[in-house]
Amino acid sequence: MTAQDEALITAWYDSNARDLPWRHPDASAWSVLVSEIMLQQTPVARVLPAHAAWLARWPGPADLAAATAADALRQWDRLGYPRRAIALHATARLLVDQHGGEVPASAAALRALPGVGAYTAAAVASFAFGQRHAVLDTNVRRVLARLVTGQQHPARATSAAEIRLAESLLPADGRRAARWSVALMELGALVCTATRPSCPACPVAARCRWRRGGSPAGPARRPASRYEGSDRQCRGSILAALRRAGGRVPGTELDAAGQQDAQRARALAALLADGLVTRRPDGLFSLPGDPG
Ligand code: ADE
Repeated sequence: MTAQDEALITAWYDSNARDLPWRHPDASAWSVLVSEIMLQQTPVARVLPAHAAWLARWPGPADLAAATAADALRQWDRLGYPRRAIALHATARLLVDQHGGEVPASAAALRALPGVGAYTAAAVASFAFGQRHAVLDTNVRRVLARLVTGQQHPARATSAAEIRLAESLLPADGRRAARWSVALMELGALVCTATRPSCPACPVAARCRWRRGGSPAGPARRPASRYEGSDRQCRGSILAALRRAGGRVPGTELDAAGQQDAQRARALAALLADGLVTRRPDGLFSLPGDPG
């Protein structure tokens, strides 16, 4: 990667980036952390209203820490993968207990928070604190696979070599590195997309190794698994029933309409193991932290 690639991609970003609230210069580190947790598995369009509502209700970690885990789960609503709501709530309490109610700036301290993996720690350290870290989400990985490695798609799992490559491409200055990372991410989201890249709109098309090699198709990728009828859907319907009930519910009334008993039992066991559902001493079920 040359200084020219950086100049081309960041200039493209300045003219084409979406105006997202967590990218505003005055966005708090908390706003950035909440956005990155939500964006882990939910598209931007669905995160936008959820993020705004979350920040309006809990503007800082101490506000969320004062709420219950059940409040967090209800507010999470239908963003999917609700374990993230429980983790964010636990993170808020941990920030109050151990970090003076602030989001820490160090990637190592961020990595130690519930629900924060290597990607999210690097993203928050970069975007909230202007630090120099390789931020490897699927979009960045795809852009680098094409531009630098000449492959249509990155491997399923991130390799150590890929991390070393991404680190070697980072501008030396923290703020410039953070801008480079978000610009790569946006290029992957808007132009260098997985199935139909818009190469004519790409600022580095002429320099792209994959394109220069004739845009060869890589090996076929495994299609996304179905949601309909899945255990994940069953877990979602159990949580929805508990949210509707707003209190204690016997296991037999957990509305997992049309689900097999075995699947419902498996889903309920997973929710209990993840702390998303509590079994009360009277044998009834509720959201965690809801008054009994
Ligand atoms: N901007 C900063 N982080 C982002 C993310 N994870 N997805 C989309 N846009 C972002």
